[in-house]
Amino acid sequence: MHEGLFITLEGIEGAGKSSSLNYISELFICAGHEVLQTREPGGTDTGEQIRKILLDSDNIKLESSTELLLMFAARSQHLEEIVKPALEKDQVVICDRFTDASYAYQGGGRGIEELRIKTLEDWVQLGFTPTVTLLFDLDVDVGLRRAEKRSQADRFEQEDIMFFKRVRSSYLQRASNEPIRFRIINAGNSLEDVKQQIHKALQEYL
Ligand SMILES: Nc1ncnc2c1ncn2[C@@H]1O[C@H](COP(=O)(O)OP(=O)(O)OP(=O)(O)O)[C@@H](O)[C@H]1O
Ligand SMILES: [Mg+2]
Repeated sequence: MHEGLFITLEGIEGAGKSSSLNYISELFICAGHEVLQTREPGGTDTGEQIRKILLDSDNIKLESSTELLLMFAARSQHLEEIVKPALEKDQVVICDRFTDASYAYQGGGRGIEELRIKTLEDWVQLGFTPTVTLLFDLDVDVGLRRAEKRSQADRFEQEDIMFFKRVRSSYLQRASNEPIRFRIINAGNSLEDVKQQIHKALQEYL
């Protein structure tokens, strides 16, 4: 395991992960930390190229297993090139989505067996896990409506409502299995309230 602080943000589309990144960074910067913001899939030049393949809604033939492998390929590059070096420099790393998303989307959403995902997690991460994970939880309809207003639908956003319901319940199941790492944020509330919940959830690390 690593010494540094590795914070991951999870939750369905429109939950408010990206909207909260700057706020979380400011909390840590004000407390005197150096902060690195990043995201998955992506976070490196190679990873961002992989992200394009994953999100491109023209890629209608992409198999679930290919999708999963691409997620972990991008993750492997991201961990070695960006995340681990930053943690070694004592920076606080805040990452918009990480491995829990693979379990929720490719596992819960697409139906890939959890054990296959765990095999890749073990292979790529060798026990490396986030220090703390904020799960932005909200009603699927509300999240999708927010995401719809924001931008054109990507390959995932074109999935039906049942897909996102499976993703959400997968996330909640993981949170209940690991109550120490996960902090659930009620993301259906106002942005101001969400900020207060985040502050409280991360207080012990500030
Ligand atoms: N608590 C909130 N109340 C109202 N609107 C919100 C709230 N949080 C986020 N939004 C709005 O919802 C939209 C989606 O938010 P955001 O992009 O942060 O979601 P996300 O979790 O990053 O989604 P994705 O997984 O699709 O990247 C944005 O337009 C944002 O301004
Ligand atoms: Mg986002």
